[in-house]
Amino acid sequence: MRKKVTVVGSGNVGASCAVRLAGKALADIVVVDILEGIPQGKALDILQAGPVEGVDVQLTGANDYAPTADSDIVVVTAGFPRKPGMSRDDLLWANYDIVKASVEQAVKHSPNCILIVVTNPLDAMCHVAHRISGFPKHRVVGMAGILDTARFRTFVAQALNVSASDVVAFVLGGHGDTMVPLVRYSSVAGIPLADLMDAGTLQQIVTRTRGGGAEIVKYLKSGSAYYAPSAAAVEMVEAILLDRKRVLPCSAYLEGEYGIHNLFVGVPVKLGAQGIEKIFEAKLTEDELAALHKSAAAVKELVDVMAPKLA
Ligand code: NAI
Ligand code: 2OP
Repeated sequence: MRKKVTVVGSGNVGASCAVRLAGKALADIVVVDILEGIPQGKALDILQAGPVEGVDVQLTGANDYAPTADSDIVVVTAGFPRKPGMSRDDLLWANYDIVKASVEQAVKHSPNCILIVVTNPLDAMCHVAHRISGFPKHRVVGMAGILDTARFRTFVAQALNVSASDVVAFVLGGHGDTMVPLVRYSSVAGIPLADLMDAGTLQQIVTRTRGGGAEIVKYLKSGSAYYAPSAAAVEMVEAILLDRKRVLPCSAYLEGEYGIHNLFVGVPVKLGAQGIEKIFEAKLTEDELAALHKSAAAVKELVDVMAPKLA
């Protein structure tokens, strides 16, 4: 039997995820949205690309969760994107209600699924999904680090005129302005970045990576990035469905790793059929650890605000 992936939200990120998933023929796909007709229309449209692309997956659009039953993975993209001038954190309450409602419904129909959260503010929404689902921590994982590292890799590749495929990057922390691009662990085919570019250029790339999402919001004005985010989410789906045991930066629930307790924060994890199969702890310098803890504190602020509702 083919695997089944549900994408909640048929907006920019959700529909792009569905297109990429269908193109890879990884699983049958159900797209759910509250907007009547939109998931149905988009699913039918994507399905009709199948004959051209030579893929045979089933795509269904729905306004309810019955067709999602027994999904292996549910990707939660439902929620508002930010507008120019807004931070991801400004989306907290609007998206809290949406993620709560989406996860409640999704897990009712797919009690054994793995949840991949995309909605912002990412790490806080992972916390909501974890609490509402009651799932063990290895079955709730957030997408952000792959996107942040992809941005970092792109900027390094542009600066050095090399293939982005050969740039290895490492970004830790929450998906926000306090994220921690770890230059010391980043390289081009194993050659440390500090050997290849001056400190000023490197710092500019770090700063641009931190503001990578806002840079796109400023251009788009009415929404946020979705091509690279959907590619990142689909990389996670693929790692799980194919049990690839990829080591990827994802938001994971930490219980003491890096000295952080009971919080979703971006760290390197092994993603396979069980979801998060391992959290890797890299050795950090005092400054790097302090930057990570500052980033975790920003996530904790949001989680603390939500605590009375989640108790
Ligand atoms: P969008 O506005 O294009 O789509 C959101 C969709 O969610 C809409 O179609 C809306 O009708 C739907 N929706 C709202 N409430 C719903 C509910 N209760 N159930 C089902 N669907 C519902 O927004 P876009 O660009 O797709 O972004 C979605 C979310 O993903 C935003 O919160 C955005 O900030 C976040 N995001 C996170 C990234 C990350 O790195 N973690 C990267 C890119 C986006
Ligand atoms: C981004 O970084 C919106 O969080 C999303 O593009």
